[in-house]
Amino acid sequence: MNLPEHATRNRAQWNTWAADFVDAGRRNWATAEPSWGIWNLPGSRVDFFQGIERFAGTDAIELGCGTGYVSSWLTRAGARVTGIDISDEQLRTAGELRAQHDLTDISFLQASAEAVPLPDASFDLAVSEYGASIWCDPYAWIPEAARLLRVGGELIFLVNGLLAMLCMDEAGIQPALQRPLFGLHRVEWDDDDSVEFHLPHGEWIRLLRANGFEVERLLELQAPADAKTTSTWADSAWATKWPTEEVWHARKVR
Ligand SMILES: C[S@@+](CC[C@H](N)C(=O)[O-])C[C@H]1O[C@@H](n2cnc3c(N)ncnc32)[C@H](O)[C@@H]1O
Repeated sequence: MNLPEHATRNRAQWNTWAADFVDAGRRNWATAEPSWGIWNLPGSRVDFFQGIERFAGTDAIELGCGTGYVSSWLTRAGARVTGIDISDEQLRTAGELRAQHDLTDISFLQASAEAVPLPDASFDLAVSEYGASIWCDPYAWIPEAARLLRVGGELIFLVNGLLAMLCMDEAGIQPALQRPLFGLHRVEWDDDDSVEFHLPHGEWIRLLRANGFEVERLLELQAPADAKTTSTWADSAWATKWPTEEVWHARKVR
């Protein structure tokens, strides 16, 4: 793979982090009912797929699949799923869990979501939960998702909430703004070597539309009052008032 600097860094970082994500991967593969984000919100609170069963018989790709549990949920719902990820260690976990759950139909492929070695118009659904949606440059992965989707296909992705990102520093979400909204794009932290990408809402809409998508929904995820998370960056009291995470849902219309 001929990777840009941020992707090389993210691959190395995720190969290091992979061991810490095995338990969560195992838990999520073992649950039949999808749950979303750091608050593990069930489908009754986050209608992420608007009914996962409607993807039965369709071709789906997960961009930055990590341990592959979203791919497993889609496969059990009857979709033909390809999960791609840049990290060999994350894919090793995904492959082991695929074997344990006997879901051998899922194809896992090592590739960057910014340059996927698969033909145009191969998929009806592209999905990313904290995958390409965070770790890839939107100016590269959104055109790539558009290329991979058939006209009428759907793109659903989960990212950190915009306000949460504006308030976040190395210690987590602070009670005051930490960075400007204008120009928000590449974000790095002092305490690890990863590179993230985040955009203002207006820029997401412009970029999606420029790549042939219509935006259908923006879900702002609210933590319930009794919410618990193992995440170090979010506080449930904050997350009952402002969204720590959001889900974008767009359709390729041309
Ligand atoms: C938080 S994890 C994914 C979460 C996922 N829902 C799961 O099942 O674990 C983020 C993933 O993005 C992957 N990633 C980072 N940069 C990538 C890139 N350029 N292309 C594809 N995957 C990438 C990482 O290797 C990592 O596995």
